[in-house]
Amino acid sequence: MTANPRPDETAAAGLFSAGAADEATGLRDAAGTGVAAEDGVDHTAAVDEDELVARLRAAGCVFAEEEAAVLRDGDPDPGRLAELVARRVAGLPLEHVVGWARFAGRRILVDPGVFVPRLRTEVLVARAAAYVRAGSVVVDLCCGSGALGVVLAAGAEGPVELHAADVDAAAVRCARRNVEPLGGTVYEGDLYAALPTSLRGRVDVLVANVPYVPSAEIGLLPAEARLHEAPVALDGGADGLDLARRVAAEAGRWLVPGGRMFLECGEHQAVAAAAALRTAGLTPSLHHDEDLDVTVVSGVR
Ligand SMILES: C[S@@+](CC[C@H](N)C(=O)[O-])C[C@H]1O[C@@H](n2cnc3c(N)ncnc32)[C@H](O)[C@@H]1O
Repeated sequence: MTANPRPDETAAAGLFSAGAADEATGLRDAAGTGVAAEDGVDHTAAVDEDELVARLRAAGCVFAEEEAAVLRDGDPDPGRLAELVARRVAGLPLEHVVGWARFAGRRILVDPGVFVPRLRTEVLVARAAAYVRAGSVVVDLCCGSGALGVVLAAGAEGPVELHAADVDAAAVRCARRNVEPLGGTVYEGDLYAALPTSLRGRVDVLVANVPYVPSAEIGLLPAEARLHEAPVALDGGADGLDLARRVAAEAGRWLVPGGRMFLECGEHQAVAAAAALRTAGLTPSLHHDEDLDVTVVSGVR
């Protein structure tokens, strides 16, 4: 397990077969009564469920029934549904097609190009959540859509002080849509440099799902990640731990005494990641989840 690969991780996600990408681009009028509009899409015809599932399956979507249900969510009109299906069949991640992802039981808005929160990352969130109390200061570095911070804040017994940051402007825009309704703040910039200095020494829980794919393995990722997620969201440098080391190195300056940080990595990276935390003066511990094949490295100041 090397990275953040995703297509087969989410219950509703399917494996996309690139070979099917240029097959049909719209749904046929199953009843044979619809009239195609100028855009070539029939906006009136009902969409036959069996045909929808068959098209998704032909395009390589393993969980075609689940994907069909997600695409139908909100009861889009037939023309809109046809557009959504065409984009999915053309290879866009399901979450980018519909604009949201299910993460830890919540619906997280996900904009095009922004990293889709992975099922495996729920392990990190569950471990961090055990330390979030009402009034906690929670920081989500490398926040992407803001999914981790949102779940931690929404699941707390009372309001928390939530701060999130990302270097990618598209991610920041997306995170603001998820985080601000909960009263949180999202900053744009490089790791801690994005945060207000007033947070130094005050952070109770720091989560950072940093990119951790070794650069040489980016080309091995599924097409959905390689083609539709920003490289900056995936590439962790030579051994995948460049960002993890940088986050660990400075964590002690931002955590309150007794505060904790949480990272995710591959099993083979865990020992080196834990060593980075120890070097930074934190006491590390490791948790490996066999089912989701992910390791969470945490450290207490
Ligand atoms: C693996 S994604 C995780 C996103 C989100 N936390 C999640 O789990 O869904 C990594 C994120 O780190 C961000 N990132 C990469 N380098 C960064 C840096 N130097 N400073 C801040 N964010 C960075 C990327 O833009 C991307 O959104």
